[in-house]
Amino acid sequence: MPARFTQHNQRFRPSSKEDQVVDKAKEHFERTLVAIRGELAGSVAALEHPNHDEALNYGEIFLRDNVPVMIYLLLQNRFPVVKQFLSVCLDLQSTTVQTRGVFPTSFVEEEGELIADYGQRSIGRITSVDASLWWPILCWIYVKRSGDKAFGSSQRVQRGLQLLLDLVLNPSFEGTPVLFVPDCAFMIDRPMDVWGAPLEVEVLLFAALRSCIELMELHRRQENSALLDQRLRLSRQWMHDLRQYLLKHYWVTSKTMQVLRRRPTEQYGDNQYQNEFNVQPQVIPDWLQDWLDNRGGYMIGNMRTGRPDFRFYSLGNSLASLFGLLTAPQQRALFRLVQHNRDDLMAEMPMRICHPPMDNIEWQNKTGSDPKNWPWSYHNGGHWPSLLWFFGASVLLHERLNPNADVLLMSQMNTLIEECYWSHLNQLPRQQWAEYFDGPTGTWVGQQSRTYQTWTIVGFLLMHHFLRVNPDDVLMLHLDPGSDSLI
Ligand code: GLC
Repeated sequence: MPARFTQHNQRFRPSSKEDQVVDKAKEHFERTLVAIRGELAGSVAALEHPNHDEALNYGEIFLRDNVPVMIYLLLQNRFPVVKQFLSVCLDLQSTTVQTRGVFPTSFVEEEGELIADYGQRSIGRITSVDASLWWPILCWIYVKRSGDKAFGSSQRVQRGLQLLLDLVLNPSFEGTPVLFVPDCAFMIDRPMDVWGAPLEVEVLLFAALRSCIELMELHRRQENSALLDQRLRLSRQWMHDLRQYLLKHYWVTSKTMQVLRRRPTEQYGDNQYQNEFNVQPQVIPDWLQDWLDNRGGYMIGNMRTGRPDFRFYSLGNSLASLFGLLTAPQQRALFRLVQHNRDDLMAEMPMRICHPPMDNIEWQNKTGSDPKNWPWSYHNGGHWPSLLWFFGASVLLHERLNPNADVLLMSQMNTLIEECYWSHLNQLPRQQWAEYFDGPTGTWVGQQSRTYQTWTIVGFLLMHHFLRVNPDDVLMLHLDPGSDSLI
Protein backbone atom coordinates (compact mmCIF):
# COMPACT_ATOMS: atom_id res chain seq x y z
CA MET A 1 0.00 0.00 0.00
CA PRO A 2 1.44 3.44 -0.85
CA ALA A 3 2.62 5.46 2.14
CA ARG A 4 -0.12 8.05 1.70
CA PHE A 5 -2.77 5.52 2.74
CA THR A 6 -1.14 4.62 6.00
CA GLN A 7 -0.39 8.13 7.21
CA HIS A 8 -2.72 9.10 10.09
CA ASN A 9 -3.71 12.45 11.33
CA GLN A 10 -3.43 12.46 15.09
CA ARG A 11 -6.11 15.04 15.91
CA PHE A 12 -8.17 12.15 17.16
CA ARG A 13 -10.45 12.71 20.16
CA PRO A 14 -10.17 9.71 22.48
CA SER A 15 -13.37 10.39 24.42
CA SER A 16 -15.60 10.27 21.34
CA LYS A 17 -17.29 7.37 19.68
CA GLU A 18 -15.81 8.47 16.41
CA ASP A 19 -14.18 5.16 15.54
CA GLN A 20 -17.35 3.20 16.23
CA VAL A 21 -19.45 5.55 14.14
CA VAL A 22 -16.98 5.36 11.27
CA ASP A 23 -16.86 1.56 11.42
CA LYS A 24 -20.64 1.35 11.43
CA ALA A 25 -20.87 3.79 8.50
CA LYS A 26 -18.41 1.62 6.58
CA GLU A 27 -20.60 -1.42 7.21
CA HIS A 28 -23.69 0.41 5.96
CA PHE A 29 -21.76 1.58 2.95
CA GLU A 30 -20.74 -1.96 1.98
CA ARG A 31 -24.39 -2.95 2.04
CA THR A 32 -25.26 -0.26 -0.50
CA LEU A 33 -22.99 -1.75 -3.17
CA VAL A 34 -24.66 -3.89 -5.81
CA ALA A 35 -23.49 -5.96 -8.75
CA ILE A 36 -24.34 -5.51 -12.40
CA ARG A 37 -23.54 -8.44 -14.70
CA GLY A 38 -22.00 -10.19 -11.73
CA GLU A 39 -19.54 -7.46 -10.73
CA LEU A 40 -19.91 -4.68 -8.16
CA ALA A 41 -20.82 -1.55 -10.09
CA GLY A 42 -22.08 1.09 -7.65
CA SER A 43 -24.50 1.88 -4.84
CA VAL A 44 -28.26 2.01 -4.57
CA ALA A 45 -29.58 5.46 -3.60
CA ALA A 46 -30.84 4.39 -0.18
CA LEU A 47 -31.07 1.26 1.91
CA GLU A 48 -34.44 2.09 3.41
CA HIS A 49 -37.56 4.07 2.78
CA PRO A 50 -40.26 4.79 5.37
CA ASN A 51 -42.92 3.38 3.07
CA HIS A 52 -41.57 0.13 1.70
CA ASP A 53 -44.62 -0.57 -0.44
CA GLU A 54 -44.07 2.40 -2.69
CA ALA A 55 -42.64 1.53 -6.07
CA LEU A 56 -39.95 4.17 -6.01
CA ASN A 57 -36.50 4.14 -7.50
CA TYR A 58 -34.31 4.37 -4.41
CA GLY A 59 -33.08 0.85 -5.14
CA GLU A 60 -31.52 2.02 -8.41
CA ILE A 61 -27.97 3.16 -9.09
CA PHE A 62 -28.16 6.92 -9.62
CA LEU A 63 -25.26 8.43 -11.47
CA ARG A 64 -25.19 11.61 -9.38
CA ASP A 65 -25.57 9.79 -6.06
CA ASN A 66 -22.61 7.63 -7.06
CA VAL A 67 -20.22 10.56 -7.46
CA PRO A 68 -19.14 10.48 -3.78
CA VAL A 69 -19.30 6.67 -3.88
CA MET A 70 -16.80 6.50 -6.74
CA ILE A 71 -14.51 9.08 -5.13
CA TYR A 72 -14.55 7.06 -1.93
CA LEU A 73 -13.84 3.80 -3.76
CA LEU A 74 -10.92 5.44 -5.55
CA LEU A 75 -9.50 6.48 -2.19
CA GLN A 76 -9.67 2.82 -1.16
CA ASN A 77 -7.94 1.75 -4.42
CA ARG A 78 -11.03 -0.26 -5.39
CA PHE A 79 -10.47 0.51 -9.05
CA PRO A 80 -12.37 -2.43 -10.62
CA VAL A 81 -15.69 -1.27 -9.12
CA VAL A 82 -15.21 2.23 -10.48
CA LYS A 83 -14.25 0.88 -13.87
CA GLN A 84 -17.30 -1.35 -13.94
CA PHE A 85 -19.52 1.62 -13.02
CA LEU A 86 -18.00 3.78 -15.76
CA SER A 87 -18.31 0.95 -18.29
CA VAL A 88 -21.95 0.19 -17.52
CA CYS A 89 -22.82 3.90 -17.79
CA LEU A 90 -21.01 4.02 -21.10
CA ASP A 91 -22.97 1.03 -22.40
CA LEU A 92 -26.13 2.84 -21.40
CA GLN A 93 -25.28 6.10 -23.15
CA SER A 94 -28.37 6.82 -25.21
CA THR A 95 -28.40 5.97 -28.92
CA THR A 96 -31.93 7.22 -29.67
CA VAL A 97 -32.09 10.01 -32.21
CA GLN A 98 -33.36 12.74 -29.90
CA THR A 99 -31.18 11.97 -26.87
CA ARG A 100 -28.07 10.54 -28.51
CA GLY A 101 -25.09 10.86 -26.16
CA VAL A 102 -27.07 11.35 -22.94
CA PHE A 103 -26.08 9.24 -19.92
CA PRO A 104 -28.85 7.78 -17.77
CA THR A 105 -30.03 9.35 -14.51
CA SER A 106 -30.20 5.90 -12.93
CA PHE A 107 -30.19 2.22 -13.81
CA VAL A 108 -30.97 -1.15 -12.32
CA GLU A 109 -30.57 -4.79 -13.29
CA GLU A 110 -33.79 -6.78 -13.18
CA GLU A 111 -33.81 -10.44 -14.05
CA GLY A 112 -30.57 -10.12 -15.94
CA GLU A 113 -31.78 -7.14 -17.92
CA LEU A 114 -30.40 -3.61 -17.58
CA ILE A 115 -33.09 -0.95 -17.27
CA ALA A 116 -32.06 2.67 -17.50
CA ASP A 117 -33.97 5.87 -16.82
CA TYR A 118 -33.24 8.86 -19.03
CA GLY A 119 -36.21 10.72 -17.60
CA GLN A 120 -38.96 8.67 -19.21
CA ARG A 121 -39.69 6.81 -15.95
CA SER A 122 -38.97 9.46 -13.32
CA ILE A 123 -41.54 11.48 -11.36
CA GLY A 124 -42.46 14.42 -13.59
CA ARG A 125 -40.58 12.81 -16.52
CA ILE A 126 -37.70 15.21 -16.05
CA THR A 127 -34.35 15.14 -17.78
CA SER A 128 -31.06 15.05 -15.85
CA VAL A 129 -28.21 16.91 -17.44
CA ASP A 130 -25.79 16.70 -14.52
CA ALA A 131 -25.45 12.90 -14.83
CA SER A 132 -24.04 13.21 -18.33
CA LEU A 133 -21.63 15.97 -17.30
CA TRP A 134 -20.37 14.03 -14.27
CA TRP A 135 -19.37 11.02 -16.36
CA PRO A 136 -16.24 12.48 -18.02
CA ILE A 137 -15.26 14.15 -14.74
CA LEU A 138 -15.39 10.83 -12.89
CA CYS A 139 -13.66 9.10 -15.77
CA TRP A 140 -10.77 11.57 -15.70
CA ILE A 141 -10.40 11.35 -11.92
CA TYR A 142 -10.40 7.55 -12.23
CA VAL A 143 -7.72 7.59 -14.93
CA LYS A 144 -5.57 10.01 -12.92
CA ARG A 145 -5.85 8.05 -9.71
CA SER A 146 -5.57 4.52 -11.07
CA GLY A 147 -3.13 5.26 -13.88
CA ASP A 148 -5.41 3.29 -16.24
CA LYS A 149 -4.54 5.32 -19.33
CA ALA A 150 -5.52 2.40 -21.55
CA PHE A 151 -9.15 2.79 -20.47
CA GLY A 152 -9.05 6.59 -20.87
CA SER A 153 -7.68 6.44 -24.38
CA SER A 154 -9.71 3.40 -25.51
CA GLN A 155 -11.95 3.71 -28.55
CA ARG A 156 -15.12 3.23 -26.55
CA VAL A 157 -14.34 5.97 -24.03
CA GLN A 158 -13.23 8.34 -26.78
CA ARG A 159 -16.37 7.61 -28.75
CA GLY A 160 -18.50 8.25 -25.66
CA LEU A 161 -16.79 11.60 -25.16
CA GLN A 162 -17.43 12.63 -28.77
CA LEU A 163 -21.10 11.71 -28.47
CA LEU A 164 -21.36 13.80 -25.33
CA LEU A 165 -19.50 16.72 -26.86
CA ASP A 166 -21.91 16.60 -29.81
CA LEU A 167 -24.59 17.65 -27.33
CA VAL A 168 -22.60 20.62 -26.11
CA LEU A 169 -20.32 22.07 -28.78
CA ASN A 170 -23.07 23.11 -31.10
CA PRO A 171 -24.48 26.27 -32.50
CA SER A 172 -27.56 27.36 -30.56
CA PHE A 173 -30.26 29.98 -30.74
CA GLU A 174 -28.62 31.98 -27.96
CA GLY A 175 -25.05 31.85 -29.22
CA THR A 176 -23.68 31.84 -25.67
CA PRO A 177 -21.32 29.24 -24.15
CA VAL A 178 -23.86 28.16 -21.50
CA LEU A 179 -25.98 25.05 -21.80
CA PHE A 180 -29.72 25.79 -21.64
CA VAL A 181 -31.71 23.21 -19.72
CA PRO A 182 -35.30 22.69 -18.57
CA ASP A 183 -36.43 22.91 -14.91
CA CYS A 184 -35.35 19.98 -12.65
CA ALA A 185 -32.27 19.02 -14.71
CA PHE A 186 -29.83 18.33 -11.84
CA MET A 187 -29.78 17.39 -8.16
CA ILE A 188 -32.81 19.64 -7.72
CA ASP A 189 -35.09 17.40 -9.74
CA ARG A 190 -38.48 18.93 -8.92
CA PRO A 191 -39.81 22.29 -10.14
CA MET A 192 -37.89 25.06 -8.38
CA ASP A 193 -37.62 27.66 -11.15
CA VAL A 194 -34.14 26.43 -12.00
CA TRP A 195 -34.51 26.26 -15.78
CA GLY A 196 -32.25 28.15 -18.18
CA ALA A 197 -28.63 28.24 -17.14
CA PRO A 198 -28.54 27.03 -13.51
CA LEU A 199 -25.20 27.41 -11.80
CA GLU A 200 -24.65 23.74 -10.97
CA VAL A 201 -25.11 22.62 -14.57
CA GLU A 202 -22.83 25.35 -15.92
CA VAL A 203 -20.07 24.63 -13.42
CA LEU A 204 -20.30 20.93 -14.24
CA LEU A 205 -20.12 21.79 -17.91
CA PHE A 206 -16.88 23.68 -17.25
CA ALA A 207 -15.40 20.72 -15.36
CA ALA A 208 -16.70 18.23 -17.94
CA LEU A 209 -15.03 20.16 -20.77
CA ARG A 210 -11.81 20.29 -18.79
CA SER A 211 -11.96 16.54 -18.22
CA CYS A 212 -12.85 15.77 -21.85
CA ILE A 213 -9.84 17.82 -22.96
CA GLU A 214 -7.51 15.82 -20.70
CA LEU A 215 -8.95 12.51 -21.88
CA MET A 216 -8.75 13.54 -25.55
CA GLU A 217 -5.14 14.61 -25.02
CA LEU A 218 -4.36 11.09 -23.81
CA HIS A 219 -5.70 9.72 -27.04
CA ARG A 220 -3.95 12.31 -29.18
CA ARG A 221 -0.59 11.21 -27.82
CA GLN A 222 -1.24 7.85 -29.46
CA GLU A 223 -3.13 8.77 -32.54
CA ASN A 224 -3.13 12.02 -34.44
CA SER A 225 -6.24 13.12 -36.21
CA ALA A 226 -7.32 16.44 -37.63
CA LEU A 227 -10.79 15.92 -36.24
CA LEU A 228 -9.49 15.39 -32.74
CA ASP A 229 -7.30 18.50 -33.01
CA GLN A 230 -10.30 20.51 -34.08
CA ARG A 231 -12.41 19.14 -31.22
CA LEU A 232 -9.65 19.99 -28.76
CA ARG A 233 -9.35 23.55 -30.04
CA LEU A 234 -13.09 24.08 -29.90
CA SER A 235 -13.42 22.57 -26.41
CA ARG A 236 -10.64 24.79 -25.07
CA GLN A 237 -12.19 27.90 -26.56
CA TRP A 238 -15.63 26.94 -25.26
CA MET A 239 -14.33 26.27 -21.76
CA HIS A 240 -12.51 29.60 -21.72
CA ASP A 241 -15.57 31.52 -22.95
CA LEU A 242 -17.84 29.73 -20.49
CA ARG A 243 -15.59 30.64 -17.57
CA GLN A 244 -15.42 34.29 -18.62
CA TYR A 245 -19.16 34.37 -19.05
CA LEU A 246 -19.87 32.85 -15.63
CA LEU A 247 -17.38 35.07 -13.83
CA LYS A 248 -18.85 38.12 -15.50
CA HIS A 249 -22.54 37.40 -15.03
CA TYR A 250 -22.78 35.15 -11.95
CA TRP A 251 -20.07 36.34 -9.56
CA VAL A 252 -21.28 39.02 -7.12
CA THR A 253 -19.73 40.90 -4.21
CA SER A 254 -20.79 44.01 -2.35
CA LYS A 255 -18.63 46.02 -4.72
CA THR A 256 -20.03 44.55 -7.93
CA MET A 257 -23.58 44.98 -6.61
CA GLN A 258 -23.04 48.66 -6.13
CA VAL A 259 -22.03 48.99 -9.75
CA LEU A 260 -24.90 46.78 -10.94
CA ARG A 261 -27.49 48.80 -9.05
CA ARG A 262 -26.51 51.97 -10.86
CA ARG A 263 -26.34 50.60 -14.37
CA PRO A 264 -28.48 52.07 -17.12
CA THR A 265 -31.32 49.93 -18.42
CA GLU A 266 -33.01 49.51 -21.82
CA GLN A 267 -29.73 49.61 -23.70
CA TYR A 268 -29.86 48.83 -27.37
CA GLY A 269 -27.01 48.11 -29.78
CA ASP A 270 -23.73 46.29 -29.64
CA ASN A 271 -21.44 48.96 -28.27
CA GLN A 272 -20.42 49.59 -24.68
CA TYR A 273 -23.41 48.02 -23.02
CA GLN A 274 -23.19 47.56 -19.26
CA ASN A 275 -26.48 45.80 -18.74
CA GLU A 276 -26.75 43.06 -21.37
CA PHE A 277 -29.62 41.27 -19.66
CA ASN A 278 -31.58 44.44 -18.95
CA VAL A 279 -31.78 43.79 -15.22
CA GLN A 280 -33.80 46.38 -13.30
CA PRO A 281 -32.33 47.40 -9.93
CA GLN A 282 -35.68 46.55 -8.29
CA VAL A 283 -35.06 42.83 -8.72
CA ILE A 284 -32.14 42.92 -6.30
CA PRO A 285 -33.43 41.33 -3.09
CA ASP A 286 -33.16 43.09 0.30
CA TRP A 287 -31.44 40.20 2.02
CA LEU A 288 -28.47 40.45 -0.32
CA GLN A 289 -26.85 43.37 1.51
CA ASP A 290 -26.31 41.58 4.79
CA TRP A 291 -25.71 38.25 3.03
CA LEU A 292 -22.70 39.63 1.12
CA ASP A 293 -21.30 41.59 4.04
CA ASN A 294 -18.17 43.55 3.21
CA ARG A 295 -15.85 40.97 1.82
CA GLY A 296 -18.05 38.05 0.85
CA GLY A 297 -18.76 36.83 -2.66
CA TYR A 298 -20.64 34.01 -4.39
CA MET A 299 -22.05 32.90 -7.70
CA ILE A 300 -25.74 33.54 -8.15
CA GLY A 301 -28.00 30.67 -9.13
CA ASN A 302 -28.95 31.62 -12.66
CA MET A 303 -28.91 34.44 -15.19
CA ARG A 304 -31.88 35.01 -17.47
CA THR A 305 -32.98 38.09 -19.30
CA GLY A 306 -34.27 40.58 -16.73
CA ARG A 307 -34.39 37.89 -14.06
CA PRO A 308 -31.23 36.86 -12.28
CA ASP A 309 -31.76 34.21 -9.59
CA PHE A 310 -29.93 35.51 -6.53
CA ARG A 311 -30.53 32.38 -4.45
CA PHE A 312 -27.41 30.74 -3.05
CA TYR A 313 -26.89 27.14 -4.18
CA SER A 314 -24.39 25.27 -2.06
CA LEU A 315 -23.40 22.61 -4.53
CA GLY A 316 -22.84 24.90 -7.52
CA ASN A 317 -20.72 27.26 -5.40
CA SER A 318 -18.68 24.49 -3.78
CA LEU A 319 -17.97 22.96 -7.19
CA ALA A 320 -17.02 26.32 -8.68
CA SER A 321 -14.36 26.54 -5.99
CA LEU A 322 -13.29 22.90 -6.10
CA PHE A 323 -12.92 22.81 -9.88
CA GLY A 324 -11.01 26.09 -10.02
CA LEU A 325 -13.62 28.06 -11.92
CA LEU A 326 -13.29 30.73 -9.24
CA THR A 327 -9.91 32.39 -8.75
CA ALA A 328 -8.15 31.84 -5.40
CA PRO A 329 -9.21 35.27 -3.97
CA GLN A 330 -12.79 34.60 -5.11
CA GLN A 331 -12.70 31.23 -3.37
CA ARG A 332 -11.71 32.98 -0.15
CA ALA A 333 -14.52 35.51 -0.60
CA LEU A 334 -16.89 32.55 -0.90
CA PHE A 335 -15.50 31.03 2.30
CA ARG A 336 -16.02 34.37 4.10
CA LEU A 337 -19.59 34.44 2.89
CA VAL A 338 -20.27 30.93 4.17
CA GLN A 339 -18.68 31.84 7.49
CA HIS A 340 -20.76 35.02 7.73
CA ASN A 341 -23.99 33.15 6.93
CA ARG A 342 -23.16 30.10 8.92
CA ASP A 343 -26.42 30.19 10.90
CA ASP A 344 -28.35 29.85 7.66
CA LEU A 345 -26.11 27.59 5.66
CA MET A 346 -24.85 25.19 8.29
CA ALA A 347 -27.12 25.62 11.33
CA GLU A 348 -27.80 22.27 13.04
CA MET A 349 -27.28 20.11 9.99
CA PRO A 350 -24.74 21.20 7.39
CA MET A 351 -25.47 22.05 4.65
CA ARG A 352 -28.53 23.89 3.32
CA ILE A 353 -29.09 23.17 -0.35
CA CYS A 354 -30.48 26.54 -1.43
CA HIS A 355 -31.11 29.85 0.33
CA PRO A 356 -33.50 31.58 0.88
CA PRO A 357 -36.54 29.32 0.45
CA MET A 358 -39.52 30.46 -1.61
CA ASP A 359 -42.84 30.85 0.17
CA ASN A 360 -46.48 31.87 -0.39
CA ILE A 361 -47.37 32.91 -3.93
CA GLU A 362 -43.83 32.42 -5.13
CA TRP A 363 -43.85 28.84 -3.84
CA GLN A 364 -47.24 28.25 -5.50
CA ASN A 365 -46.17 29.64 -8.84
CA LYS A 366 -42.65 28.40 -9.10
CA THR A 367 -42.95 24.91 -7.59
CA GLY A 368 -46.48 24.22 -8.80
CA SER A 369 -47.57 24.06 -5.12
CA ASP A 370 -45.22 21.12 -4.53
CA PRO A 371 -45.80 19.89 -0.95
CA LYS A 372 -42.43 18.13 -0.91
CA ASN A 373 -40.74 21.45 -1.61
CA TRP A 374 -42.63 23.31 1.10
CA PRO A 375 -40.61 26.27 2.49
CA TRP A 376 -37.59 25.07 4.50
CA SER A 377 -38.03 21.56 3.21
CA TYR A 378 -36.28 19.26 0.73
CA HIS A 379 -34.88 21.30 -2.18
CA ASN A 380 -36.55 24.50 -1.01
CA GLY A 381 -34.19 25.43 1.82
CA GLY A 382 -33.81 21.94 3.32
CA HIS A 383 -30.53 20.68 4.74
CA TRP A 384 -28.66 17.87 2.99
CA PRO A 385 -25.77 16.28 4.88
CA SER A 386 -24.50 14.85 1.57
CA LEU A 387 -23.45 18.37 0.53
CA LEU A 388 -20.96 19.09 3.28
CA TRP A 389 -18.03 17.14 1.89
CA PHE A 390 -18.08 19.12 -1.38
CA PHE A 391 -17.67 22.37 0.53
CA GLY A 392 -15.20 20.84 2.99
CA ALA A 393 -13.09 19.45 0.15
CA SER A 394 -13.04 22.85 -1.57
CA VAL A 395 -11.67 24.47 1.60
CA LEU A 396 -9.06 21.75 2.12
CA LEU A 397 -8.00 21.84 -1.53
CA HIS A 398 -7.68 25.62 -1.43
CA GLU A 399 -5.44 25.34 1.59
CA ARG A 400 -3.19 22.86 -0.13
CA LEU A 401 -2.87 24.91 -3.29
CA ASN A 402 -2.45 28.25 -1.46
CA PRO A 403 -0.69 27.36 1.79
CA ASN A 404 0.22 30.91 2.76
CA ALA A 405 -2.95 32.76 1.84
CA ASP A 406 -5.06 34.42 4.55
CA VAL A 407 -3.97 32.14 7.36
CA LEU A 408 -6.49 33.59 9.81
CA LEU A 409 -9.46 32.99 7.52
CA MET A 410 -8.28 29.50 6.70
CA SER A 411 -7.90 28.58 10.34
CA GLN A 412 -11.47 29.79 10.95
CA MET A 413 -12.60 27.69 8.01
CA ASN A 414 -10.86 24.64 9.39
CA THR A 415 -12.67 25.13 12.67
CA LEU A 416 -15.95 25.53 10.83
CA ILE A 417 -15.47 22.32 8.85
CA GLU A 418 -14.39 20.45 11.95
CA GLU A 419 -17.49 21.59 13.85
CA CYS A 420 -19.76 20.69 10.95
CA TYR A 421 -18.18 17.26 10.83
CA TRP A 422 -18.89 16.89 14.53
CA SER A 423 -22.58 17.72 14.01
CA HIS A 424 -22.70 14.91 11.48
CA LEU A 425 -20.86 12.56 13.76
CA ASN A 426 -23.28 13.24 16.60
CA GLN A 427 -26.53 13.50 14.65
CA LEU A 428 -26.41 11.18 11.67
CA PRO A 429 -26.21 7.79 13.41
CA ARG A 430 -29.11 8.82 15.66
CA GLN A 431 -31.14 10.00 12.71
CA GLN A 432 -30.43 6.87 10.70
CA TRP A 433 -28.33 8.63 8.07
CA ALA A 434 -31.35 10.51 6.76
CA GLU A 435 -31.46 11.98 3.27
CA TYR A 436 -32.41 15.52 4.27
CA PHE A 437 -33.55 17.67 7.19
CA ASP A 438 -36.27 20.33 7.43
CA GLY A 439 -36.86 23.68 9.10
CA PRO A 440 -34.92 26.93 9.46
CA THR A 441 -32.24 25.27 11.57
CA GLY A 442 -32.33 21.87 9.87
CA THR A 443 -32.96 20.09 13.15
CA TRP A 444 -35.85 17.88 12.10
CA VAL A 445 -35.51 14.87 9.88
CA GLY A 446 -37.11 15.60 6.52
CA GLN A 447 -40.77 14.74 6.45
CA GLN A 448 -40.43 12.34 3.53
CA SER A 449 -36.79 11.63 4.03
CA ARG A 450 -35.40 8.22 3.25
CA THR A 451 -33.10 6.69 5.84
CA TYR A 452 -29.73 5.06 5.31
CA GLN A 453 -29.27 7.26 2.26
CA THR A 454 -26.05 6.30 0.52
CA TRP A 455 -24.65 9.75 -0.21
CA THR A 456 -25.29 10.80 3.40
CA ILE A 457 -23.26 7.82 4.61
CA VAL A 458 -20.47 8.09 2.08
CA GLY A 459 -20.33 11.91 2.31
CA PHE A 460 -19.60 11.49 6.01
CA LEU A 461 -16.92 8.89 5.24
CA LEU A 462 -15.31 11.25 2.75
CA MET A 463 -15.23 14.09 5.27
CA HIS A 464 -13.70 11.67 7.77
CA HIS A 465 -11.10 10.57 5.23
CA PHE A 466 -10.07 14.11 4.31
CA LEU A 467 -9.99 15.32 7.92
CA ARG A 468 -8.50 12.32 9.67
CA VAL A 469 -6.96 9.80 7.31
CA ASN A 470 -5.19 11.74 4.61
CA PRO A 471 -5.91 15.42 3.87
CA ASP A 472 -3.56 15.34 0.88
CA ASP A 473 -5.92 12.98 -0.90
CA VAL A 474 -8.10 15.99 -1.64
CA LEU A 475 -5.60 16.77 -4.41
CA MET A 476 -7.20 13.95 -6.34
CA LEU A 477 -10.12 16.29 -7.03
CA HIS A 478 -7.89 18.97 -8.51
CA LEU A 479 -8.72 18.85 -12.20
CA ASP A 480 -5.90 21.02 -13.43
CA PRO A 481 -3.69 19.45 -16.03
CA GLY A 482 -0.37 18.30 -14.71
CA SER A 483 -1.65 18.26 -11.14
CA ASP A 484 -1.10 14.57 -10.73
CA SER A 485 2.19 12.78 -11.17
CA LEU A 486 0.55 9.65 -12.54
CA ILE A 487 -0.08 11.15 -15.94
C1 GLC B 1 -34.07 12.75 -5.15
C2 GLC B 1 -33.06 13.87 -5.25
C3 GLC B 1 -32.03 13.54 -6.32
C4 GLC B 1 -31.38 12.19 -6.03
C5 GLC B 1 -32.44 11.11 -5.89
C6 GLC B 1 -31.86 9.79 -5.45
O1 GLC B 1 -34.82 12.66 -6.31
O2 GLC B 1 -33.68 15.09 -5.53
O3 GLC B 1 -31.06 14.58 -6.37
O4 GLC B 1 -30.50 11.86 -7.05
O5 GLC B 1 -33.40 11.51 -4.91
O6 GLC B 1 -31.26 9.90 -4.20
